[in-house]
Amino acid sequence: MSLLEVRGLTKIYGSLTALKDARMTVTGNEFHGLIGPNGSGKSTLLKCIAGAELPSGGTVHLSGRDITRATPPERSRAGMSLKFQITAILPQLSVYDNLLLALQAHDPMLALIASRTRGRLHDEVMELLTRFGLADRRDQLAGFLSHGQQQWLEIAMALSRKPKLLLLDEPTAGMSPQERRATGDLLGPIKARCSLLIVEHDLDFIKDICDSLTVLDQGEVVASGRTDDVQNDPRVKEAYLAHG
Ligand SMILES: Nc1ncnc2c1ncn2[C@@H]1O[C@H](COP(=O)(O)OP(=O)(O)O)[C@@H](O)[C@H]1O
Ligand SMILES: [Mg+2]
Repeated sequence: MSLLEVRGLTKIYGSLTALKDARMTVTGNEFHGLIGPNGSGKSTLLKCIAGAELPSGGTVHLSGRDITRATPPERSRAGMSLKFQITAILPQLSVYDNLLLALQAHDPMLALIASRTRGRLHDEVMELLTRFGLADRRDQLAGFLSHGQQQWLEIAMALSRKPKLLLLDEPTAGMSPQERRATGDLLGPIKARCSLLIVEHDLDFIKDICDSLTVLDQGEVVASGRTDDVQNDPRVKEAYLAHG
């Protein structure tokens, strides 16, 4: 059974159809890339999947369950976690505390019984910080991390919920080529734990890490399938080259 199933998804803003009859599938432990020119509806599709926007038509299923109208917290409990383009870290708190808060946020009871679970939480925080190369920055204020490190901290925070599906909207925007490469290396190992739906501008970056791709152009899915098939699809080349 597929993990995420999007069918006939449409989003209309006034007179603008931002998304038209979009269809795509993500299976378990799969990295799926969402690409397309500026304004083609990538963020709109991600927001409709995450519940930040409600679609005008169509359905979203997660693990076979219809979540089209579910609230973001309900989606989070159903196994979805996301990081949008806008940063959600608290710059005045330490790197460690940002992650600790993220771990506690999805279970308020944890905060109440923190004294008993502090050891376990500490282990989880340090494990995530180590995985994302931030262990030696743990006491630093998050606002002083480099742009790339802030993105990694946010991805670690999103993963702290142990999602089945992680949604990332342009995580490498504004990163240096080195940070971009490092991001690919950091994301790789999470495939053992969850699936990834990632919006990206950089086709070279995304085709290296994704098993499959969905290409949007003017709100419509131009192609969706295995990365090799999609990138060789003449309609994709056309959509990409036409818009530069
Ligand atoms: N809240 C909104 N209200 C009106 N129009 C919107 C809104 N959000 C996005 N759009 C429009 O929908 C289209 C798709 O936008 P978006 O999904 O952000 O594209 P992408 O992420 O591919 O660059 C654009 O024309 C954009 O201007
Ligand atoms: Mg966008």
